[in-house]
Amino acid sequence: MTKKKAQKKTKAKKSKVTKKKKTTKKTSSVKKTVKGLDFVYDPAPESKAVVHIQNKYDHFIAGKFVAPNSGKYMKSINPATEEVLTKHAVGDEKDVDRAVKAARVAYEGVWSKMPAEERGRYLYRIARILQERSREFAVAETLDGGKPIKESRDVDIPLAAAHFFYYAGWADKLEYAFPGKSVRSIGVCGQIIPWNFPLLMAAWKLAPALAAGNCVVLKPAEQTSLTAMLLAEVLQEAELPDGVVNIVTGEGPTGAALVAHPDVNKIAFTGSTDIGKLIAKNVAHTTKKLTLELGGKSANIVYEDAAIDQAVEGVVNGIYFNQGHVCCAGSRLLLEESIAKDFLKKLQKRMKTIRVGDPLDKNTDLGAINHKEQWEKIKTLVDQGKEEGGDFYQAECKLPSKGYFFSPCYFAKQSGSSLISRLEIFGPVLSVSTFRTPDEAITKANDTPYGLAAGIWSEKGSKIHKTANGLKAGVIWANTYNKFDPTSPFGGFFESGYGREGGLHGLLPYLEVK
Ligand code: NAI
Ligand code: MG
Repeated sequence: MTKKKAQKKTKAKKSKVTKKKKTTKKTSSVKKTVKGLDFVYDPAPESKAVVHIQNKYDHFIAGKFVAPNSGKYMKSINPATEEVLTKHAVGDEKDVDRAVKAARVAYEGVWSKMPAEERGRYLYRIARILQERSREFAVAETLDGGKPIKESRDVDIPLAAAHFFYYAGWADKLEYAFPGKSVRSIGVCGQIIPWNFPLLMAAWKLAPALAAGNCVVLKPAEQTSLTAMLLAEVLQEAELPDGVVNIVTGEGPTGAALVAHPDVNKIAFTGSTDIGKLIAKNVAHTTKKLTLELGGKSANIVYEDAAIDQAVEGVVNGIYFNQGHVCCAGSRLLLEESIAKDFLKKLQKRMKTIRVGDPLDKNTDLGAINHKEQWEKIKTLVDQGKEEGGDFYQAECKLPSKGYFFSPCYFAKQSGSSLISRLEIFGPVLSVSTFRTPDEAITKANDTPYGLAAGIWSEKGSKIHKTANGLKAGVIWANTYNKFDPTSPFGGFFESGYGREGGLHGLLPYLEVK
């Protein structure tokens, strides 16, 4: 081909591309456009038809669904539409007592006597059924809690199954888990979980407890009990012996009744620091074991030598993942002063492309805030933060007219004593400050009553190690954030609670070790 011909061809190609672009632009006016992007996504909603949701759910006690003693049910709302999704039984002391008795009978009669490899087999079976029904569980989780389908599909459900697989493997190897020690189960465990990762938190709690040979009464969060009730169906399908796992739904008083029950040997709680402290007080005069996984105000530290674009992505994932409803969310960003201005520019640009909206849409990055009260808490704190001053930035997102949605935002240049930099907000709200030296970064990161997690972004291994050694946090990520694995222990310091979940450490709270 001559040079001229080749040039002509490229020209023709170019004009074709421009033509194409023009057509896309034309059609895009009827599509949902994302500000700051020169391309658009068509809606790609996941089907609701894959899950059958009943009008109401009863407790799951001794292998059967049983109506609540009080006859009362509570509404469960889809936070993306504000519509009633279903109703759940409200448990009282009598329901809790019935469940604890069923767990005790199963423990004494069946579960503690069963060969350990048999126990493991049941856990494998549960894991496999969860995998088989994963699409259904993902849709249910998204409808119930407002989280984007891509998260429930790619994070919550696979990780829940992975926890059952992982602990299934330990069930008949407990003597190798703690060499030279003798271990035995502790009995009946009461487990109380929150609304941010409903099925995953159930799996975190149930899998190690059952592998260790205990029986359980689980109390899901009142806002998000749906996948726990679907899990009850899975337990029936797996033919888990009656009473090994019992699920009593309800609000705070139901949880309190479980904590107060005299025949419960251990309480495991994940939730707010206030309720964690209350539970600690209530079991202090008993022989009950207790583990608490509470809140956080975790720092993401970015050094000037970090891979900046990667760090921006990590910071976005750290705070805006799951609407910021993550106990270990990277809710405080500490930037080395020399890069702060440029970093925030890049962060703003990235925030503009976050897609907020229908959680069932496979393109959605940020779904609905889990429930109305949490939305109100976030709104109130952000309004108070604005009054406190500093620089406030919020991405301009077109929010759906119904549902509890909140655009991602950050506060910079506020004082270290501001509400936004100190309180756990549990929403898509980031607090930004700067530092000049690694020591200052460590001091600022540790300046919180919590100690759950932290992130460090740097290309220098020595700097990462030095910083990590100075941080008082249970989990520290380097050049990544929010990475979870069943083999890895998770838990906090100070007001973030005590005890570990995950890995070998996660078995310990469910065993007597001699
Ligand atoms: P919460 O601590 O009240 O609820 C967590 C669980 O505890 C639920 O199942 C609830 O029914 C139960 N509960 C409530 N009162 C109880 C009591 N007296 N005894 C026993 N169980 C009880 O948390 P809430 O009100 O839903 O959220 C408030 C704040 O807590 C959030 O804004 C967030 O900051 C934080 N939080 C932290 C979580 C974490 O993963 N660490 C999870 C959920 C909330
Ligand atoms: Mg509460």
